Amino acid sequence: MPSAMIRKEKYNVAVLGATGVVGIEMVKVLEQRNFPVDKLLPLASERSSGKKVSFKGKQIQVSVLEQNSFEKIDIALFSAGATISKEFAPIAAKAGAIVIDNSSAWRMDPEVPLVVPEVNPEEAFKHKGIIANPNCSTIQMVVALKPIHDAAKIKRIVVATYQSVSGWGKEAVEQLIAEVKAIESRDFKDYKNTKGIEKVLPAQIAFNVIPHIDVFEKNDYTKEEMKCINETRKIMKEPNLPVTATCVRVPVFRGHSEVVNIETEKKLSVQEVKNILNKAPGVKVVDNPSAGIYPLVIDADGRDEVFVGRIREDASIKNGLNLWIVSDNLRKGAALNAVQIAELLIAK
Ligand SMILES: NC(=O)c1ccc[n+]([C@@H]2O[C@H](COP(=O)([O-])OP(=O)(O)OC[C@H]3O[C@@H](n4cnc5c(N)ncnc54)[C@H](OP(=O)(O)O)[C@@H]3O)[C@@H](O)[C@H]2O)c1
Repeated sequence: MPSAMIRKEKYNVAVLGATGVVGIEMVKVLEQRNFPVDKLLPLASERSSGKKVSFKGKQIQVSVLEQNSFEKIDIALFSAGATISKEFAPIAAKAGAIVIDNSSAWRMDPEVPLVVPEVNPEEAFKHKGIIANPNCSTIQMVVALKPIHDAAKIKRIVVATYQSVSGWGKEAVEQLIAEVKAIESRDFKDYKNTKGIEKVLPAQIAFNVIPHIDVFEKNDYTKEEMKCINETRKIMKEPNLPVTATCVRVPVFRGHSEVVNIETEKKLSVQEVKNILNKAPGVKVVDNPSAGIYPLVIDADGRDEVFVGRIREDASIKNGLNLWIVSDNLRKGAALNAVQIAELLIAK
């Protein structure tokens, strides 16, 4: 499979999972960034037949995914879960498309590049038909940490995430809305009662915090936590970097926040970290604590940047730093990163 993209003026782009929270954002990002789309093919399951997506002022019918969906497709943005990706990414690649996959299906495959354009763009060109988009919490962390690593060599990362419900798809968003409505209808009394409301998350999420994202593995970490650890090492090309993660679901619609503690080999002052991050692509420093200014998910909603604040020294260790890292999981954490990878491919 060739790794370079055949240069064209415009490309046929399929968006698989076009009715999901990430897929909807992918279509929006393609339009907003004026990606040179010839034909847009939105794909989903039979549940979506008859639905339309809006693109550049036109209503485009959603097609049901089939074995031959990817004929004449140049770029296929996949966002329909790992099971579908496992089956259909090789089919799409065989048909000649370059697949940029949002699921966890291919991320740790040594043959598949795992790409964050601000961090390891060169990897994209090593693809054999499939490129993986990292997990949302990993993307925002490495965008902020790679420039610090380059300047001072990170020796250890400890991260705790506060992840929004949209990170688990549209049904988790619906769960939060239904629970809040039920509780509100009782004037916020008996707030622990959400019986009868369908749960795709492991527990009630309204007015709650759940330290459980994805399934538990044998070592008592969740799969989400292990994704964060392993993907960070792969993207930063540091296979032995000590990383530990605790991933937590919070009742936020959109945007993930992270408390990140790092230890570096070289000492960096807070001002030096701010200078480094001010110059880093894709990063915006929002950090004036005495004025009450720090990154908030509600300000990150719909934005492309990774916001970093609460930057301060960790006095408990020699070269330690604490950071608060916030980004929109549906933009930089998913759709935007995928479209940026496609932009890399067509620019070369
Ligand atoms: N949400 C995030 O922040 C985020 C971030 C990074 C990566 N991801 C990954 O992106 C993927 C999609 O996540 P999401 O949050 O957008 O989920 P979602 O809102 O639940 O959407 C899932 C999409 O997949 C489609 N789909 C499901 N089964 C299908 C099938 N058998 N055939 C064709 N299409 C099918 C759905 O179509 P119907 O509407 O027809 O069911 C829908 O368009 C997942 O792999 C997820 O891990 C998500």
